Amino acid sequence: MEPLSGAAAAAAAAAGGGGASRPPSFASQTNALLRKNLIFQKRNRKATIRLIIVPIYLCVLLSVLQRVINNLLDKPKYKCGCMCVDVNGTGPCQNVCGIQYSTLDQAGSCPIPNPPEWPALLQVPHLEYRATQDSSESCRKSQSCPAAIPFTGANETLSTTVMQNMFTDSPLSNLSDNASISGILLGTDMPGTSTGFIEPAFISDVPIYVLQSECKSRNSVTLRTTIDAINVQKEIKCVQGLPLWRNSSRTINEETFKGYRKEKIGKGISEVAMAYDFQDSNEKRFNVLALYNSTYQNISYVPMPFGLLRVSRSLNAVSNAYLQFLQGQGSGIKMLLEFTKEMPKQATRLTIDFSSLIGPLFFEWVVALLFPLC
Ligand SMILES: *[C@@H]1O[C@H](CO)[C@@H](O)[C@H](O)[C@H]1NC(C)=O
Ligand SMILES: *[C@@H]1O[C@H](CO)[C@@H](O)[C@H](O)[C@H]1NC(C)=O
Ligand SMILES: *[C@@H]1O[C@H](CO)[C@@H](O)[C@H](O)[C@H]1NC(C)=O
Ligand SMILES: *[C@@H]1O[C@H](CO)[C@@H](O)[C@H](O)[C@H]1NC(C)=O
Ligand SMILES: *[C@@H]1O[C@H](CO)[C@@H](O)[C@H](O)[C@H]1NC(C)=O
Ligand SMILES: *[C@@H]1O[C@H](CO)[C@@H](O)[C@H](O)[C@H]1NC(C)=O
Ligand SMILES: *[C@@H]1O[C@H](CO)[C@@H](O)[C@H](O)[C@H]1NC(C)=O
Repeated sequence: MEPLSGAAAAAAAAAGGGGASRPPSFASQTNALLRKNLIFQKRNRKATIRLIIVPIYLCVLLSVLQRVINNLLDKPKYKCGCMCVDVNGTGPCQNVCGIQYSTLDQAGSCPIPNPPEWPALLQVPHLEYRATQDSSESCRKSQSCPAAIPFTGANETLSTTVMQNMFTDSPLSNLSDNASISGILLGTDMPGTSTGFIEPAFISDVPIYVLQSECKSRNSVTLRTTIDAINVQKEIKCVQGLPLWRNSSRTINEETFKGYRKEKIGKGISEVAMAYDFQDSNEKRFNVLALYNSTYQNISYVPMPFGLLRVSRSLNAVSNAYLQFLQGQGSGIKMLLEFTKEMPKQATRLTIDFSSLIGPLFFEWVVALLFPLC
C-alpha cells in the first residue's frame, strides 16, 4: 500500500486525537475519504480526464443512435393502423384508427378503450406431464390421465365434500349451446401471456378442457359462445379432475416437489393442476389456502414482463364449492367469477430508451470509479 497522503494522515490524526477509545465521527471519516480521493485524482489526472470524457462521448453517441432508431420506428408500419371511413354514411370520410384497421405489427400500439372480457380458466398440466396414480401409466397411452388436485385439511369429511362440490357434471353435449361458461370449470394447458387483452387459449388451436369428476365420453364437443359480441367456436375436451386426499400440507409439498419437471424426462414428471389446504375450516369458518404453480410467471434475472397466472378461477371454484356445501347443492345459490378483463390502454409508441437500459452501468463508471471507497 502507498504511504498515506499528508491530508489523510492529518485527518486520521485529528479523528484519533479525541481519545483512543472513541471511534472517529462520521463527518471526519467522510472528510478524510474525500480528501484521499481528491489527492488520488490529482495524481492520476490523465486517467481521471479519460474517465470523464469516455462516458460523455458515449452518451452523445447513444443519444444520436437513439434518435436515429426512434426516427426509424416512427413509421406508420409501427403505429396503430388508420383508415378513412365514412362514419356517418354521408359526406366526407374521417380518419379512424383502431385495431380493426391494423396489421399484426401495428396492433400492439393501438389504444384499447374497452378490453374484451374473457372467461377465467384453470391452469391444467400438459397431458403427458400429469400426475398419475397407477405406475403402469396406461392412462398416458390412452391420453386420459386425470388432472390431480391434492387437498388436505383438519377435517377430512368436510374437505372431501367441498372438493366434490367443485365439479358440475352435466354431460358434455349440454355445453354446446348457449353455455354459461362461468359455471363450468374450464382449463387450459397454455401458459398465460404478460397481458390480459387476449386469452391465448381461445385463439390457439389447442382444445380447452372442462374438468369434471367423471368423463363419460372421450369425445369432444364444440362450444359456441359469444365473447364481446364475437362468436367463438372452441373445441372442448373433458378431463377428469381427481381430488386426492393427503394427510398434510407437507405431503403435498413433498409430492409436488418430487414431480417437478427439472432434469426429468417423461416418466418422473407429475404435475398437479392445483392444490388446496382447508386448514381449520368448519361450517362457520372458511379458511383455505389455494396452492398454485408459480413457475408460469417466468421470473428471470433479465427484466421481462411476468406471465399472468391462472389463479382466480381456482380460488373462485373452491369458494363456490364451500357455498354449495353450506347451502346444499340443490339450493341453486352460486357465486361465480364471470370474467377477467385487462385494464384499458392508451395508444402507445414503440421507442427505445437507452438511458433506462444502461443507466446503472454509467453510474458505476462515473461515480464508483471517480470515488473509489477503498
Ligand atoms: C358524424 O356525426 C357526428 C355526430 O353524430 C358528428 O359530430 C360528426 O361531425 C359527423 N361527421 C361527419 C363527417 O359528418
Ligand atoms: C367434520 O365436518 C363434518 C361435516 O361438517 C362434521 O359433521 C364433523 O363433526 C367434523 N369433524 C370434526 C372432528 O370436527
Ligand atoms: C341436458 O340438456 C337437456 C335438454 O336441454 C336437459 O333435459 C337435461 O336435463 C340436461 N342435463 C343436465 C345434466 O343438465
Ligand atoms: C341460444 O341463443 C340464441 C340467441 O341468443 C337463441 O336464438 C337460441 O334459441 C338459444 N338456444 C338455446 C338452446 O337456448
Ligand atoms: C401421511 O401419509 C404418509 C404417506 O401416505 C405416511 O407416511 C405418514 O405416516 C402419514 N402421516 C400421518 C400423520 O398420518
Ligand atoms: C410447474 O410448471 C412448470 C412450467 O410448466 C413445470 O416445469 C413444473 O414441472 C410444474 N411443477 C409442478 C409441481 O406442477
Ligand atoms: C413463459 O415461458 C413459457 C415457456 O418457456 C412460454 O411459452 C411463455 O410464452 C412465457 N410467458 C411469458 C409471458 O413470457
